[in-house]
Amino acid sequence: MNMNPTRTSLYEAFCDPLTHCALEVTGHRGLKNGDGTTYKFLDGDESIVDFLATTGASAADVANLKMYDDQSPTERYRNFLRWLFQTFKVSEAEFRTDLLARLKISGGMKVLVIGCGLGEDVAIIHQAIGAGGELHAQDISKSMVKAASDSIDSPNVCFSISNALSLPYKSRYFDVVFHFGGINLFGNMQKAIAELERVCKIGGRVMFGDEGIAPHLRGTEYANILINNNGLWALEAPMHQLPHNAAGIEITYVLGNCFYLISFRPQEGLPKVDLDVPHVGTRGGSARTRYFGRLEGVTPETKDKLVEAARARGISAHALLEEIINRQIPSGQ
Ligand SMILES: C[S@@+](CC[C@H](N)C(=O)[O-])C[C@H]1O[C@@H](n2cnc3c(N)ncnc32)[C@H](O)[C@@H]1O
Repeated sequence: MNMNPTRTSLYEAFCDPLTHCALEVTGHRGLKNGDGTTYKFLDGDESIVDFLATTGASAADVANLKMYDDQSPTERYRNFLRWLFQTFKVSEAEFRTDLLARLKISGGMKVLVIGCGLGEDVAIIHQAIGAGGELHAQDISKSMVKAASDSIDSPNVCFSISNALSLPYKSRYFDVVFHFGGINLFGNMQKAIAELERVCKIGGRVMFGDEGIAPHLRGTEYANILINNNGLWALEAPMHQLPHNAAGIEITYVLGNCFYLISFRPQEGLPKVDLDVPHVGTRGGSARTRYFGRLEGVTPETKDKLVEAARARGISAHALLEEIINRQIPSGQ
């Protein structure tokens, strides 16, 4: 863990968004990869690396940029937030503080905020990580990143203009990866979640949320009115798109149960199970033998004969079958 990191040491978090190769600082211009491609600082501001200017934007990104990067996107987005929190009768500051408290961020942690918008969460997280932590925040919109970076000036905070579907951050770098409010429209939910997982340490915490009314409210007038207002509320929490190595999964609903909030911890591979625990009982065998040892079907009469004979011997059908086959066909034949 870094003690009082400087801005330069924060660049260690970055990698090439396309190849994931390491980048090096090139003077005061930006970060450079092995083949000389440079990702420049935005207008010479060394706290913002602009990856999008070099990588370009896809069709889905262009739609998002229209929404969040045109003439007065920050003012329009502030209006939207005012409406949202008034509608759900909660103070924005309280809501964000409660939401982030779920992450249990402590001093010295490395945290990444995806789609940071105006940066309201950045200040709260910055306080939680203290001077020894590292805070990175990204958004695809230059206007949003500029607004977020204007709201904070600290040597342990660094921004990037980049695409959440192709993050310019090293794999397994962050203790906590957080996103709220935009993932439904990033263009590829599975890829977006995979990127959140990739940059989070094994055993770290990923948390993300967006519009999606809780299942028990569907079909009510309450849900119908809100879905009529904004079709995104009809979306379902993308539980089936979580990576296979997600552990400690939690889902809850916030803001009038109209936003899903999912969190998980990346672990090494699939859950650890012992497939060889023997089943006690007539059938016998184990999860492994029942799956991998399935045989050609026999007649129902033969099967009954096997079960009866096994019962008479006080062993399982599995054990008797093993015995008969191995006696009839010794190894090596
Ligand atoms: C509804 S806003 C949420 C902002 C902030 N997280 C909040 O809680 O207020 C969605 C944000 O996602 C950003 N965004 C959209 N597509 C993106 C992408 N592909 N990669 C990164 N950010 C994206 C938008 O520019 C916008 O700032």
